[in-house]
Amino acid sequence: MTDSYLSFANSSLGSRIATLLGLPQPLPLERYRAGQPVLKGSVLLGAGGEPELLPALAAGFKSMAAQTVAHRSLPQWTQLANQAGLMTGRWGVEDKPGEKVKALVFDATGMQDSAEADALYQFFHDAARSVLPCGRVLVLGRPPEACSSPRMATMQRALEGLTRSLAKELKRAITVQLVYVAEGANDQLESTLRFFLSPRCAYVSGQVVRIGVPSVAGAVAVDWTQPLQGKKILVTGASRGIGAAIAEVMARDGAQLICLDVPQAQAGLDEVAARLGARALALDIGAADAPQKLADAALADGGWGVVVHNAGITRDKTIANMKEHLWQAVVNVNLSAQERINDALVDSGALKAGGRIVCVSSISGIAGNLGQTNYALSKAGVIGMVQSMAPVLAKKGITINAVAPGFIETQMTAAVPFALREAGRRMNSMGQGGQPVDVAEAIAWFASPASGGLTGNVVRVCGQSLLGA
Ligand SMILES: NC(=O)c1ccc[n+]([C@@H]2O[C@H](COP(=O)([O-])OP(=O)(O)OC[C@H]3O[C@@H](n4cnc5c(N)ncnc54)[C@H](O)[C@@H]3O)[C@@H](O)[C@H]2O)c1
Repeated sequence: MTDSYLSFANSSLGSRIATLLGLPQPLPLERYRAGQPVLKGSVLLGAGGEPELLPALAAGFKSMAAQTVAHRSLPQWTQLANQAGLMTGRWGVEDKPGEKVKALVFDATGMQDSAEADALYQFFHDAARSVLPCGRVLVLGRPPEACSSPRMATMQRALEGLTRSLAKELKRAITVQLVYVAEGANDQLESTLRFFLSPRCAYVSGQVVRIGVPSVAGAVAVDWTQPLQGKKILVTGASRGIGAAIAEVMARDGAQLICLDVPQAQAGLDEVAARLGARALALDIGAADAPQKLADAALADGGWGVVVHNAGITRDKTIANMKEHLWQAVVNVNLSAQERINDALVDSGALKAGGRIVCVSSISGIAGNLGQTNYALSKAGVIGMVQSMAPVLAKKGITINAVAPGFIETQMTAAVPFALREAGRRMNSMGQGGQPVDVAEAIAWFASPASGGLTGNVVRVCGQSLLGA
């Protein structure tokens, strides 16, 4: 569905009227196109304390052919970057800011005490006005729960407040994230760096992600232009909406897809599958025999590498007015079916070491929503499943993560009454709804073979919605 206010506010007359009346002026978001570089513009780097990620950053920027500049808080970057063969230089002269940049990256991994927090002020105070529209900001820290002292854990935890506030302040479609990298996981940074610095994360902001040491240690070499090359991937609910976008993005990234939907959606399913050179599988995931059928199909295929649990339904009613079958249908399809399918695929060996499970939750599962007790229970349950299964699956070398979409422009949200729809669109830092492709890009990042350090994460794709924040 088109967002006519977004088009209006970006027309010359509309923009003047919006300024005059003090109305929000959301910017059209830059989205990734196959073949384009990670970043169009340079990255400004800064740090506090004794930063620990500089070699990993130099390697990552070299691999993505990014141009970097050093803030005065990080004078050692110039030499290190030169050694790595990167184009670099100092940013700003004396106290004057330097050129506009596309991204800010601040390495806070060495910050041991809140008394060092001034380094963050210096960097972001200097640079806040120098980020281009649709720019990217990344703060890198160490997971507070694993810090060696309470002082360090406190400082590291404090980064959350800073990043979430910056995500609200910077506006102009700039996204801001915090990534906690565990000690020993520095070599796992690149897939996340690429995602959060590129237009792929257009509608993801104010998020906190943890990268850990994968069960199979070491960086995985991937072709970054087609990171899912040769991967067999099941996408449920793939005949339309977000599921069709997931299939499309994964096909673009080189995957061989198995697109699943209910038999009633066969026509749409066949169309998507034919367009993407994928296999269509008509099956109701809620049926008792679906897990066995899927395990058999996967084994006959030589195993699958990734499973995306996207299929979902809503049957909204307040609980007092809700019939029991509506409750049961939603819990069964959105949650219990996923649990059964995961067990069947893992126990049968159809999903092996290196496998990825990516689930679709919802901000309703985080914030709760009137008329959605069944749906919110199921989507909060998905988060519970991801968090509880992550350590269990890690022993088998499999990761499990979830995305929690906010207001995404699909048939589901087109059916929402006008006033609620407008509120959903505007009550976030991007001032607009997301597109199915925004959810799909986040799922593709979790699915990447290079994302072995990511498990147990729940990332909201909601433009930093105020709901449940
Ligand atoms: N659109 C949003 O704003 C939004 C927000 C948060 C979460 N989500 C979640 O994203 C996912 C996709 O949502 P969407 O907006 O594309 O919805 P949609 O209704 O357009 O698509 C869902 C698909 O799942 C399929 N499906 C439903 N039950 C099934 C079953 N038993 N077996 C197999 N397939 C089944 C449907 O046929 C449909 O093709 C859902 O899990 C939804 O809860 C959507």
